[in-house]
Amino acid sequence: MCHRYPGLARVDDDGKLRLLFVNEEMEKVGSHGRVKCGDCHEGLEKIPHEIKEGGVNCTKECHVQEPSTSKKFSHKPIQDILDKSVHGKIGWDGKPTVHPEDLPTCKSCHENPLYRPLAFYKLVRPGLSERAVGKCRACHEKDEFIKTFYMHVSGRLNKSRAPEEVIQVCGSCHEDQGLIKRHKLKNAVFTYKETFHGKGVSTGSERLPDCTDCHVREGKSTHTILSQHDPQSSIHKANRFKTCSQTDCHPKAAENLANFKVHLDPHDQESIIEKYVIWFFIILTAATLLIFFGLLFLEQVRFLFPDAALRKERRNDDGK
Ligand code: HEC
Ligand code: HEC
Ligand code: HEC
Ligand code: HEC
Ligand code: HEC
Repeated sequence: MCHRYPGLARVDDDGKLRLLFVNEEMEKVGSHGRVKCGDCHEGLEKIPHEIKEGGVNCTKECHVQEPSTSKKFSHKPIQDILDKSVHGKIGWDGKPTVHPEDLPTCKSCHENPLYRPLAFYKLVRPGLSERAVGKCRACHEKDEFIKTFYMHVSGRLNKSRAPEEVIQVCGSCHEDQGLIKRHKLKNAVFTYKETFHGKGVSTGSERLPDCTDCHVREGKSTHTILSQHDPQSSIHKANRFKTCSQTDCHPKAAENLANFKVHLDPHDQESIIEKYVIWFFIILTAATLLIFFGLLFLEQVRFLFPDAALRKERRNDDGK
């Protein structure tokens, strides 16, 4: 009744303006469209609301039932996976992580997600296929039912974020110089962007791998990101080739592909050969362009001044 008004806002104790408006249309089509406000937000019974410190807890049970077991639904299983991953408070070696305040929570990586459904009819592409939905209408009557379930399923058959968005999320921490130093990590985002994978993704391709394609084992939840020293990890030395040769990636590759440096830092002593190869190609490209433009320039000169000559030809008076 209140939050649907776009002007609803207030200045909080720190003097910051907080928007309290909720766009109903967006809320309804999002993945949480059927979850009640009070299932996530506690303390709404009174006005002004008594909102708890720390905000919404994503592992709380809600009124939705998981239909295959009829259990009350909750995201707690994802929290359990997260706790056992490299982003949990205990490291792969059983020691507690230093600076646990740097670790991500659900809300560091997620906003209220929207479906990004796939259209299947003649082409597989993002979006809703009206032709496919037309088939459901042959048997089911209610459009809301049809669209909800079509999106529910097809939205999960592809990534719910484009690769560039995933890189942005991981980069919010893995590009942070302070965090990198505190945890003795490489600058994974910069080095990724230096390679073919990163450059391809920056042109908008969705075929190339983003961070989660390599760091999550096939068939596991996206949240199972493990340290490279953990034998279970998709990027552990023993598992790397299997990760590279997934059906969607390099199924026919030779085993030594796994030695490819996917986080290449050309300023690193380790990558001295790569550094010279990069310089070789920069010089080659520059030289080729220079020669090319030089020729183009000379051709233009000839075109504009067909009679121009550096030296005047000597002619006899009788024209011979
Ligand atoms: C799936 C869980 C979920 C549902 C359902 C949900 N919210 Fe939220 N809402 C959140 C989260 C998470 C935040 C971010 C702040 C936080 O963690 O408390 C938030 C933030 C807000 C804010 C901003 C609060 C502030 O302090 O700036 C408002 C207002 C709000 N929600 C209203 C609503 C209303 C109204 C509904 C029902 C139509 C609703 N929410 C349903 C999870 C939810
Ligand atoms: C809120 C900050 C934050 C976000 C967001 C984040 N990470 Fe991390 N990540 C960390 C911290 C902190 C560590 C170091 C943990 C430690 O020292 O044990 C880490 C460690 C890692 C490691 C382990 C490196 C190793 O082998 O030791 C990988 C891999 C990783 N993150 C991948 C990702 C990916 C992929 C994403 C995006 C889906 C991501 N991270 C998002 C904070 C973050
Ligand atoms: C390090 C960042 C990160 C953290 C922390 C994180 N998620 Fe995710 N989550 C992702 C990414 C990336 C995806 C994959 C989106 C896609 O399909 O492209 C994802 C996917 C999901 C999905 C869809 C199912 C799936 O596995 O693809 C759910 C549900 C989800 N997250 C819930 C949560 C909850 C609940 C938490 C907290 C307990 C959480 N996430 C913590 C990054 C994160
Ligand atoms: C040929 C007729 C037909 C078509 C076409 C059809 N359905 Fe159904 N659908 C049914 C029938 C009949 C049931 C009940 C079947 C049962 O319970 O075993 C059903 C069940 C379902 C259910 C499970 C509902 C529940 O509560 O158990 C969903 C979800 C669903 N259909 C979605 C769709 C979607 C989305 C499409 C289009 C992509 C579609 N259906 C196309 C006939 C059809
Ligand atoms: C093509 C596969 C691939 C992609 C894409 C990829 N990684 Fe990696 N990542 C690896 C491999 C293999 C290693 C271990 C070898 C190394 O450190 O280069 C690694 C190592 C790491 C490490 C640990 C580095 C350290 O300090 O030891 C982090 C953190 C990391 N990746 C994060 C990311 C993030 C963030 C992204 C997305 C921007 C990403 N990775 C994209 C394969 C990949």
